[in-house]
Amino acid sequence: STANTGAESVSKGNHRHFMSKEIYEQPDTISHTLSNYVNFAERKVQLPQELPFDFAKLSRLTISSCGGSYYAAMIAKYWFEKYARLPVEVDIASEFRYREPPMEKDGLALFVSQSGETADTLAALRYCVSQDQHIASIVNVAESTIARESDVVFPTLCGPEICVASTKATTAQQTVLATLAIAAGKQRGILSDAQEAEMVDALAKLPGAMSKALASEPKIASLDKSLSKAKDVFYLGRGALYPVALEGALKFKEITYIHAEGYAAGELKHGPIALIDEKVPVVVVAPSDALLEKTLSNMHEVAARGGNIILITDEAGAKQAGPDINEIILMPEVHELVQPIVATVPVQLLAYHTAVFMGTDVDQPRNLAKSVTVE
Ligand code: G6P
Repeated sequence: STANTGAESVSKGNHRHFMSKEIYEQPDTISHTLSNYVNFAERKVQLPQELPFDFAKLSRLTISSCGGSYYAAMIAKYWFEKYARLPVEVDIASEFRYREPPMEKDGLALFVSQSGETADTLAALRYCVSQDQHIASIVNVAESTIARESDVVFPTLCGPEICVASTKATTAQQTVLATLAIAAGKQRGILSDAQEAEMVDALAKLPGAMSKALASEPKIASLDKSLSKAKDVFYLGRGALYPVALEGALKFKEITYIHAEGYAAGELKHGPIALIDEKVPVVVVAPSDALLEKTLSNMHEVAARGGNIILITDEAGAKQAGPDINEIILMPEVHELVQPIVATVPVQLLAYHTAVFMGTDVDQPRNLAKSVTVE
């Protein structure tokens, strides 16, 4: 069933679809969300809610969610582990709830949901209540059931999202999760004031970086026809960019109806590389970071088998990439923390333009609902 999204009161403005409007709102929605989580003048994270738990006392963070919200949570796992040295378990809510995993009392369970009504996520939350966990949620709908049943709610402040395929809510979730990871890193004594300040500066530049990422649209739009002919598309990434590859593939399949698969770059050689030939576009999400060289080497393995490479990277990455790439989509160079958020924009646009070219119902894809309140 579909929850009331407020669609009747929101217009597309001068956009052809809600999806395009919502993609273009991201510099603003991130800026608005950040203004509630960050004190830019003091270069500190300042959460909107007092925490009813202490990150320093936690031995584990457990995150459950579904769909695109799950991929945002997966990115957060890399952040919490790296910047706060906090072990994170992240699982799809429909698996988590029936696994009934053992949980140490007084742990922290976090639920990520745009609608705040997803049945499996709510059931996972209720299981964690029964396990005496602190319950935190990141939701876009403040009066939702998941928000009401949480001890502490971290809102994404991006307004109603109408398009079934989530875009601005996803990047707002990522943004909130980044601030929580920094807060955890501070409380756990892993991040210094100087490191926090540097990361807050990176967040301050994020809305501008999102605008620059949107400027790659003409390049991305020019790929629509060739992508529309594909039977399968692969998305590859490593580290925190691996969930972005998964997000890209999800967005692509749900609105183009073309099979797409996200894969960890280093895992491709353990099977799926058998599927690569000159008919298969391979989108490689690889901004310049500590793992770039590794991802590029995986990319060259794919290129050697004729794979049609579309590389999403920045200037520094493009210089290292070599000649066997068919297309490069350039992103601004940003701090490693925010790379996954910025790289989410081009994968949204790749799906959007291919779907528009194919004439699918972009905002209301077949068989999908915005909010899944049944099992
Ligand atoms: C549905 C939507 C997805 C969304 C998922 C989780 O399947 O089509 O776009 O990611 O539910 O929704 P939630 O509201 O919990 O984030």
